[in-house]
Amino acid sequence: MNHSERLSVMTANNNMENYEETYRSFDWKEVEKEFSWYKTGKVNAAYEAIDRHAESDRRDKIALYYSDPERQEQYTFAEMKEKSDRFGNVLRRLGVKKGDRFFVFLPRTPELYFSVLGAIKIGAIVGPLFEAFMEAAVHDRMENSEAVAVITTPALLERIPVKELPALKHIILVGAKSDLNEGHYDFDLEMERASSKLDIEWVDREDGMLLHYTSGSTGKPKGVLHVHNAMLHHYQTGKWVLDLQEDDIYWCTADPGWVTGTSYGIFAPWLNGATIVIRGGRFSPDDWYQTLERYGVTVWYSAPTAFRMLMGAGEELANQYDLSKLRHVLSVGEPLNPEVVRWGLKVYGLRIHDTWWMTETGGILISNYPSMEIKPGSMGRPFPGIEAAIVDDEGNELPPYRMGNLAIRTPWPSMMRSIWKNKPTYEEYFRIHEWYVSGDTAYRDEDGYFWFQGRLDDVINTSGERVGPFEVESKLVEHPAIAEAGVIGKPDPVRGEIVKAFVSLREGYKPSEELKEEIRRFVKEGLAAHAAPREIEFKEKLPKTRSGKIMRRVLKAWELDLPTGDLSTMEG
Ligand code: WT7
Repeated sequence: MNHSERLSVMTANNNMENYEETYRSFDWKEVEKEFSWYKTGKVNAAYEAIDRHAESDRRDKIALYYSDPERQEQYTFAEMKEKSDRFGNVLRRLGVKKGDRFFVFLPRTPELYFSVLGAIKIGAIVGPLFEAFMEAAVHDRMENSEAVAVITTPALLERIPVKELPALKHIILVGAKSDLNEGHYDFDLEMERASSKLDIEWVDREDGMLLHYTSGSTGKPKGVLHVHNAMLHHYQTGKWVLDLQEDDIYWCTADPGWVTGTSYGIFAPWLNGATIVIRGGRFSPDDWYQTLERYGVTVWYSAPTAFRMLMGAGEELANQYDLSKLRHVLSVGEPLNPEVVRWGLKVYGLRIHDTWWMTETGGILISNYPSMEIKPGSMGRPFPGIEAAIVDDEGNELPPYRMGNLAIRTPWPSMMRSIWKNKPTYEEYFRIHEWYVSGDTAYRDEDGYFWFQGRLDDVINTSGERVGPFEVESKLVEHPAIAEAGVIGKPDPVRGEIVKAFVSLREGYKPSEELKEEIRRFVKEGLAAHAAPREIEFKEKLPKTRSGKIMRRVLKAWELDLPTGDLSTMEG
């Protein structure tokens, strides 16, 4: 990495004039004064995100723009309040109570936003599911959290294994066409019937609000619980990292099935009263540029894979669109290559600001700010109020340029508060006294900029989406042809990593291209498209420890032509 390359400050009139000074003087207590709880002690994040504006001069300001080939819609803050109030009443009538888990399994349409907000307004804990999830992924998440209700579409309902979810009582259907079964409700009808005024549930700052499932290297996905207090973090990072100002049109390209799509697709912008654009469907360069142009997007938060694909689509394409309104661009999810940053500067005339955080951290912890020089390849510097460090396994802080665990001093407002029904896993993150250990390795330079190096575990990061190898392996071995499977991330220039599977076959099965295709489809249809192995390699035998654990480390070494390291625990 080139540590001396610097892109100077380009944005004038940003919300944080001087990083160093702000970092020195900032106290989270100042942010508390922004919210109603300052007086009452009770709070609700959805109230602060929507109702507060609906009761102010912003009531007729557009909160949300949406369009697809059939629909073109926009909603003011007052309308968002009404819709979410109605939905809160729909859930209440069904008997959903504070603390109950309510799942949202919808394409990225306005209904998703009404239902997330409405559920949070009555104090329920929302579990958002990415629309590409298939049955196994849906099952694991709804079963672990004992969800009592879900909102979905008739098409997605087929992927909810209702019979295997004994806690699930209510299914609300958006776009129900046929007669409803028992326990099924029509969204439109229920919304119409419900009162447009909700008696909001005032909760404690530490009460649960969102349950985001994410992958580790072993075991089933873990349910990361976030609480209402996270709004402090969402609000302040929205101000200083997204740099949201009154006239901004903001587009976060992430789906609310992932934490970026809730923390920065819902809360950070709306807590700041900004107008957002939502856009579902698959990535396409034309469509994305059209979206930027049509709405005059000013602030754009996306991911390295998308920027690399746009780079692949070429400069001429970008020049066909009027992107002149764009003023601030940000990235998250995987390492942002310096050449992408340089390309962005050339083609958009803007610096792409990298940000670092995780599902578990709930909000941005390390970032580049408009008023700060960018060193391409670096994730930037800690957010004010956040202490980040590189520590060894005992918790000793390491000097500049020494690689080690990227750790954050506990606590901070949006830190996860538990892993659902899994205390040991939660405690693992805090094994070093007073530190949260991220699982990423990094180093810090002499100016305090952090440089990402890699992950310590086997978690795969493909196109910014986190895939647990164990989940994919478990699905693979359900296929009748597969005896054993080992899954790793293989470096890829566009996707960062791709999912690669090594499999051994059962007696009577022969390796073939058709079989590979069939296996790929099996994972895609059973788990999720992004988790399906793009590459499959057949092996007679997989490297295993004597206790029978597949050694992914050895598979990775094979793949990368690296030394395999210590093989003393490998079986015969
Ligand atoms: C992992 C977290 C919440 C953000 C979306 C992903 C990797 C995240 C960066 C970055 C290099 C990054 C890390 C992290 N990651 N941001 N700026 N540079 N790597 O959330 O699915 O919980 O994944 O994504 O490895 O641990 P996630």
